[in-house]
Amino acid sequence: MEKDFDREELIRKALEQQKKAYAPYSEFFVGAAVLMDSGKIYTGSNVENASFPAGCCAERTAIYHAVACGERKIRAIAIVGGRKGENRTYAAPCGVCRQVMREFCNPKEMTVILAKTPEDYREMKLEDLLPMSFGPEHLPGFGGKA
Ligand code: THU
Repeated sequence: MEKDFDREELIRKALEQQKKAYAPYSEFFVGAAVLMDSGKIYTGSNVENASFPAGCCAERTAIYHAVACGERKIRAIAIVGGRKGENRTYAAPCGVCRQVMREFCNPKEMTVILAKTPEDYREMKLEDLLPMSFGPEHLPGFGGKA
């Protein structure tokens, strides 16, 4: 199959961003890199808080950064996560992050990459992670993006 974008580059950016995670409480460090339809890549890491619920996941940090810069459509996201820089597992996005991804993509088309290294990764569509999802087109009058 023809490669529509550079997986390794996206994973490398997520790994680079993981180094900047602020996770003193969980010590679970997450990095994400999101490729938008414009071709631009935005990154984010998890940012925790002494008041635990105020923390934010890496995926949402990256996506909100992109959207705040005027982007509206996600093509793909790469996620890496682990304790103390050791990415032993494929870090799956939490339910809230899956729903946030859903807002800004076609779930049948958007690629989610869970990586340990640039060479060792699993890839799926958002629809596989969030079947029968609820999105903007289900709300009358909100089918389009502002
Ligand atoms: N975390 C993420 O950044 N992304 C996820 O999808 C799962 C969890 C972060 C939140 C918290 O800082 C730490 O991992 C432990 O839950």
